[in-house]
Amino acid sequence: MNQPERSFGVLLLAAGKGTRMRSQTPKVLHLMLEEPILYYPLAAAQEAGFNNLAVIVGFGGEAVESWTRNNFPSAAVIWQREQLGTGHAAKLAQPWWSAFDNIMILAGDAPLIRAKTLADFAARHIEKSNDCSFLSFKIEDPTGYGRVIREGERLRVVEHKDAKGDELSVNEVNSGMYIFNVKALSAVIDKLECHNAQGEFYLPDALALIAAGGGRVEAICEGDPDEYLGINDQFQLASAADIMRKRIVRSFMEKGLQCMDPSSLWIGPKVKIGSNVIIHPSVQLWGETEICDGAFIGSFTVLRNAKICGDANIKGSVRLNDSIVGPRASAGPFSFMREHGELMENAHMGRFVEIKKSRIGKDSKVPHLSYIGDTQIGENTNIGAGTITCNYDGVRKNSTKIGDNCLIGSDTMFVAPVEIGDEVSTGAGSVITENIPDGALGVGRAKQRNIQGWSKRARTEKDK
Ligand code: UD1
Ligand code: CA
Repeated sequence: MNQPERSFGVLLLAAGKGTRMRSQTPKVLHLMLEEPILYYPLAAAQEAGFNNLAVIVGFGGEAVESWTRNNFPSAAVIWQREQLGTGHAAKLAQPWWSAFDNIMILAGDAPLIRAKTLADFAARHIEKSNDCSFLSFKIEDPTGYGRVIREGERLRVVEHKDAKGDELSVNEVNSGMYIFNVKALSAVIDKLECHNAQGEFYLPDALALIAAGGGRVEAICEGDPDEYLGINDQFQLASAADIMRKRIVRSFMEKGLQCMDPSSLWIGPKVKIGSNVIIHPSVQLWGETEICDGAFIGSFTVLRNAKICGDANIKGSVRLNDSIVGPRASAGPFSFMREHGELMENAHMGRFVEIKKSRIGKDSKVPHLSYIGDTQIGENTNIGAGTITCNYDGVRKNSTKIGDNCLIGSDTMFVAPVEIGDEVSTGAGSVITENIPDGALGVGRAKQRNIQGWSKRARTEKDK
């Protein structure tokens, strides 16, 4: 498909407001499995091998443009300041698409289309030498969709609001996904008119004009109708997300993922999962999360851009953002790590522990009730329960360094910046404000005194 005479551009229409979403966010930036709706058709086109992409933006266009530039930097962004219809959008992009032989036009709000469907669609368009091919599907309730009217060779699409009489009951509808031969589209694009119920320039009118002029137009009515579902309101967004969720979970299970309850597992489209992974009920894996071979993920865990290395054990109720759990390391239950936290090989973070921007060295443990922030901990060090790195002085975040083979007493407060050597111990309850050299015991706490007979005296005082 890369021969110059068969070049393809793929244009995504994403300028519409999406009034029925009843939201300030442009429709295509609503999140589905934590990626914008627009991510999906762009990713499908890219996966199908199309590298010339463009997005038409309009409503909320600044946000759509900046998202596109950050996530699909090679895609062109074309502005449609006034949304005068899908035909108008296609016309505005003509300077971009006229460089190709064929132009595929997709709706930015139809995220369930598969890469394979797009690749087959393009192959068929070429094979049949069509001037226009488009995907249609049958639906029980065609309300809102453009009806596909077949009158012998003459195909046309009538929009719901313009349909009359028998046309309304036609249940073959236009998916809004087309491929035009560029010469054929160029010949009709200026002939579109807006004398219709919505006063808009309709792109489907272009295919009727091509057919009327004797061009080859084919409506391809095959495949899985779910792939063409458009998103117009919040409920359809949730329904599409559930279809995509099932698709992703199933594809991992086909590759061997052991999942006790597929109905409660949520996995985003960029997540990677290795072999021999077990996931318990009610887990969410988002963003660029990667689960390596042999890892276990316990219930109520939410991972976002986390890397779980081989044979790691995420014991449940763990939340990790932008963090790494090393090989054979373990976390949870009830732990939280964020902003580039890292457990090295065989390290452990346990119950009610929060770790931020810190590295916990190989074989080291933070088992209970701790906050570790802006800290480097060496190897084989044990952090006693309740230990806290006091990293914030009200102005800036300060760092703590703790060496190898240390035994940190429970409830130690490290007042950062502070550096602790290797083989150091601290007394429980110490407030450590100064560095501790290798091999020393650091104790920083008030000396205990016992006041004899105090309880009895206190009681007699009260009785008076
Ligand atoms: C469109 C088709 C209809 C088809 C349906 C499939 C037209 C006239 N009708 O109807 O035949 O059955 O899709 O879902 O095309 N957009 C722009 N600029 C505009 C108008 C729309 O970029 O000026 C974008 C929208 O953001 C959206 C897409 O084009 O992503 C489709 O527009 P929408 O208004 O949703 O068209 P439908 O009424 O759904
Ligand atoms: Ca639509």
